[in-house]
Amino acid sequence: MPVTALVSAKSCGVTASALALTLASKRPSLLAECDPAGGTVRAGFFQGEVGAGYGLYHLAAAERTGSDALANAFASHLWPMDEAGHRKLLPGLTDPAQAAALERTWPALSEVLHVLADEAGYDVFIDAGRLALSSGQLHPALTPAPLLHRADLVLLVVRGTEQSLTLARHLIDPLATELAERGTGSEALGLLLIEDGPYRAHQVAEALKTPVVAALPLDASTAGYFTTGGQPPRGYGRSPLLRHARTATEQMEAASSRRRIQQQYPARPANPHLAGVLQRLSERGGPPRG
Ligand SMILES: Nc1ncnc2c1ncn2[C@@H]1O[C@H](COP(=O)(O)OP(=O)(O)O)[C@@H](O)[C@H]1O
Ligand SMILES: [Mg+2]
Repeated sequence: MPVTALVSAKSCGVTASALALTLASKRPSLLAECDPAGGTVRAGFFQGEVGAGYGLYHLAAAERTGSDALANAFASHLWPMDEAGHRKLLPGLTDPAQAAALERTWPALSEVLHVLADEAGYDVFIDAGRLALSSGQLHPALTPAPLLHRADLVLLVVRGTEQSLTLARHLIDPLATELAERGTGSEALGLLLIEDGPYRAHQVAEALKTPVVAALPLDASTAGYFTTGGQPPRGYGRSPLLRHARTATEQMEAASSRRRIQQQYPARPANPHLAGVLQRLSERGGPPRG
């Protein structure tokens, strides 16, 4: 299954979309909250109930102790999002000042995310936050650049509004170039459209010269629930956002398989050290008790 990174030009729905996709996927799924500006799911959707001992920051600390330490610690820093433990959250940073320490964490984290996707069939979604460029390249501290380089799909989340398209227009070329030169190819780049504003998918694709891989409807009550948590709104399970998110995960999977077939970009060599990640993952079930 694909590792899909979601980014934006400016806050426009990356986190809510990533949550919708993770909760809607038909497959086991993982949301890795890797926005260097700080995670919002812990305080938002989970209203502070995620234990302080869980999350990205601890993986960064583990990584500093040795090369396989992040892989070994990985499963114990995921927060289950359902009783069965099929959907998991890697909670993000609580303090953006921690982001600088993560530059060397991203490559090791990326390896583990790809093991989950390739070998355990997880749909992996990375909330990579807002893009920041420096001299036309991804900023090394303000973006999780190595995660974007290695993702199967990098989706720029846009709305169909003039403002959103104007901001996105400036990012498309540098991002495509970066993925061509340092990533898996510029074809990894696509758009996730939030259907707000006058522009339809074909117009957005044309304006940004980039395919719209999937679209999500404007659905303030479900998105609001993902943003602030609390009681799910009435009809949540059949809400437009969740239903379209399920379709979107299929469209992303199809786009990623097409890429693999067309390009035959080399399969990642299996890393035997990472086999333990999957075992520890399967040993952990639903939410921790007590
Ligand atoms: N599909 C949607 N429909 C309606 N509102 C949305 C949708 N997606 C996001 N939003 C709202 O937009 C705001 C920003 O969303 P958020 O996911 O936090 O963006 P980002 O992570 O890009 O900063 C939030 O108030 C959120 O509820
Ligand atoms: Mg966000």
